[in-house]
Amino acid sequence: MPKTYISVLMITAGLLLSGCQSLHKEPDNNLYLQLGERTGIASVVEDLLYLIVDDERINEQFKGMDVAQFHRNLTDQLCELSGGPCEYSGRKMRELHAAMGITDTQFNALAENLILAMEKNHVPTAAQNRLIKQLLPLYPDIRHL
Ligand code: HEM
Repeated sequence: MPKTYISVLMITAGLLLSGCQSLHKEPDNNLYLQLGERTGIASVVEDLLYLIVDDERINEQFKGMDVAQFHRNLTDQLCELSGGPCEYSGRKMRELHAAMGITDTQFNALAENLILAMEKNHVPTAAQNRLIKQLLPLYPDIRHL
């Protein structure tokens, strides 16, 4: 077989192989694992709920909500956002928070409580920051900007 054919074949095989590798790349679920998978996230959300109830800056907004539904939906949302095998099936962020008139202080209060809840569950600081970073794109919908 002529040399040029051999090199063309080798390049094609190489391209096909690298294509296959990228197709089979594992999804990045590192953050999900660092949060302790769905059980760990559920525990963070439970502690977050206690902190919300005690926080005068935001607790009025949460009065009368369905606690079990909030817990399940926020757990699924954080699980999905961190690369876990969950699917958020709650309401759309913009519609849900639209009439609440959430201020920056209130948004920050919730983020602060989430960090405290992660601290309590021994989530490493780098993972805490990564989760907060995943939540930032939701800011305009929650603030209704
Ligand atoms: C990063 C910020 C936030 C995220 C990711 C978030 C996410 C969520 C999720 C997933 C739910 C449950 C949805 C459902 O059950 O269909 C929810 C409900 C709720 N959120 Fe937020 N939220 C955020 C910030 C806030 C803030 C700052 C407030 C007010 C101070 C707030 C007030 C509420 C209330 C009152 C509910 C319950 C509504 C109801 O059941 O009628 N949220 N949120």
